[in-house]
Amino acid sequence: MEYSEKVMEHFAHPHNVGKIEDADGIGEVGNAKCGDIMKMYIKVNAGIITDVKFNTYGCASAIATSSMATDMIKGKPITEALRLTNQAVVEALDGLPAVKIHCSVLAEEAIKAAVKDYYDKNGIAYDPALFKEDCCHYDHHHAE
Ligand code: FES
Repeated sequence: MEYSEKVMEHFAHPHNVGKIEDADGIGEVGNAKCGDIMKMYIKVNAGIITDVKFNTYGCASAIATSSMATDMIKGKPITEALRLTNQAVVEALDGLPAVKIHCSVLAEEAIKAAVKDYYDKNGIAYDPALFKEDCCHYDHHHAE
């Protein structure tokens, strides 16, 4: 299994790791395939994601994709963040081994879950189709 240099770089020095104490939205998702979990925190101001941080109990690929994905949405409008696909993140990392593609979904789903949480908390109407649970299941129970 070969990792690109970018993946190794982001895994060794991940960006935006941590927690935002006064987050406007928090998303927690689990990867059904491996049981790894990810928590994503966002700060929102006037529709812009001004800050984002993540924490994960996930593999190297999950860490690298989350690092890249958070870089890609920071300072961007929510609407743009919602359009970010795991494929785009994988491309930005110069690819992932095929067996690791499922790991990249965790970041995309966590971002969506955080945005949904922000919308819900602020009574903002949205199209539920934006948040289809077609891959990973949203973990609303704080396991341990
Ligand atoms: Fe679980 Fe990669 S093996 S996210």
